[in-house]
Amino acid sequence: MPLVPPSIAVLRPYEAGRSAEEVRRQYGLSRVVKLASNENPQGSSPAAITAIRKHAADLHIYPQGGLLLREALAERYGLKIDNVIAGSGSDSIIGNIVRTFLCDDDEVLTTEAAFIGFQVLAKSRGVAYKTVPYRGWRYDLEAMAAAVTDRTKIVYLANPNNPTGAMFTRKEFESFYRHVPERVLIILDEAYFEYAQGNSLYPDSMHYRYDNVITLRTFSKVYGLAGARIGYGFAHEDLIQNLLKVKLPFEPGTLAEAAGVAALDDREFVNRSVESNALGLRFLQRELAERGFETVPSEANFVMLVFPHAGAASSFAQGLLEQGVIIRPLASFGLPQCVRISVGTAEDNEFCIECIDKLTVRMPELRHRLAAAGT
Ligand SMILES: Cc1ncc(COP(=O)(O)O)c(C=O)c1O
Repeated sequence: MPLVPPSIAVLRPYEAGRSAEEVRRQYGLSRVVKLASNENPQGSSPAAITAIRKHAADLHIYPQGGLLLREALAERYGLKIDNVIAGSGSDSIIGNIVRTFLCDDDEVLTTEAAFIGFQVLAKSRGVAYKTVPYRGWRYDLEAMAAAVTDRTKIVYLANPNNPTGAMFTRKEFESFYRHVPERVLIILDEAYFEYAQGNSLYPDSMHYRYDNVITLRTFSKVYGLAGARIGYGFAHEDLIQNLLKVKLPFEPGTLAEAAGVAALDDREFVNRSVESNALGLRFLQRELAERGFETVPSEANFVMLVFPHAGAASSFAQGLLEQGVIIRPLASFGLPQCVRISVGTAEDNEFCIECIDKLTVRMPELRHRLAAAGT
């Protein structure tokens, strides 16, 4: 019997994006912008920073497993605390869902090229991992409902989706839900909820308190706390109760939790972040479209570009990197012909477009392609 199970041996460790400092040093650049990880370019919620400073004095005491944040979220959403879980990022909660509910013969069902964090965690469990292709870069919820089998235990949906940025509508979700048996657990990952909720077609899952749906949200995006590692979930109390059996007892950490509780009330920062993102997203989408790039309409804080082939996508990402713009090639997600650009500050976004212009001058093949696309 090998020490490492075959389901683990075939996996590759998650590769974090390059840091700005690393790229600055490697290419001898004075200006580097990181538009690779869908972080908040406005920084962190100031209320969260104040709370972290205040709670630094409590670090010799063990945390309470997220109790304070669970209470704050229960109050905010008019739920019982038993319906809420907090964890070290929504990634960690996904990990706990995988460990809690999946047995060897179960199947997981999601879309092709799903959020990489989910892929890594679900595949590490060694169960069957089934995917349904996108239709026009959107979830094909009809095909997904049809792909549910007797063995399907978990369906994972991210809305808006990472990496495409696309959103499915209330009508699409409701029709999907009607076709999925109640024994199937649906993970609705709403990491980008705050950016999308203004869209009247967006199915805010808090309006669907179905017993087999777990909603996941995070402080990593609009609250600017990706480095703190704090996320949360809402579900039926039986689901939460079982997750609490598996979760690390002292997760989340004191500072992360305090940051989350404080950030929840920092509406000024959230509103500012959402507004600046909307402007930046519109700018990037318009400038890219004017240059003939194929992009997917996004409801999140990033935009996905589709190239004619993998070579063009990787030359594009490398060409930007060498000029100091770090973007995310999507080969590891399963889309080697695509890249993802996160929305930055107005200055970052302009710099990114300037670098793209310099790059297209240097890449005749890309230039001809874009010209043919009707720029
Ligand atoms: C769809 C989706 N879910 C979850 C996460 C992870 O969030 P967290 O930082 O809370 O683990 C991300 C982060 O990129 C994401 O895009």
